[in-house]
Amino acid sequence: MSYFTWDSSLETGIEAIDVQHRQIVDYINRLHDAIAENDRASVREVLDQVVDYTLTHFAFEEQMIARAGYRHLASHTEVHRVFAERVRQYQARMEQGEDVSKKLLSDLRIWLTNHIKNEDRDYSAVVKAHLQSGEDQGWLSRTLGRMFPR
Ligand SMILES: [Fe+2]
Repeated sequence: MSYFTWDSSLETGIEAIDVQHRQIVDYINRLHDAIAENDRASVREVLDQVVDYTLTHFAFEEQMIARAGYRHLASHTEVHRVFAERVRQYQARMEQGEDVSKKLLSDLRIWLTNHIKNEDRDYSAVVKAHLQSGEDQGWLSRTLGRMFPR
């Protein structure tokens, strides 16, 4: 049983978003394992990866909901900004030698679960309708390729 198990209650029904959310869940599980193994180097490494990836995901999501004309774009962006700030504070404490990795891990899991189930769910109908219209197909594949190169 993994630390953070993906289930259908986390699905938005928007493929690009669900793929990214699953990737974040995967990183959080890797972070959990690194902490459990007491492997400080890999805790740092995975922590940086999950933070980087999550910030890129936020930036993608903000562009996507803006293009879909989602009316709560400003407040959604603000929620992302506040969370990113909280994560930066944890990282700063880590850099000063304080071990807050477990707190950060549980904060990530709880915050993300709530955010996906509430704020992200709220834009899903508008974004799905926008993507189904097909007018942003080119933008979607270009942006995914640029922000999430394989
Ligand atoms: Fe979001």
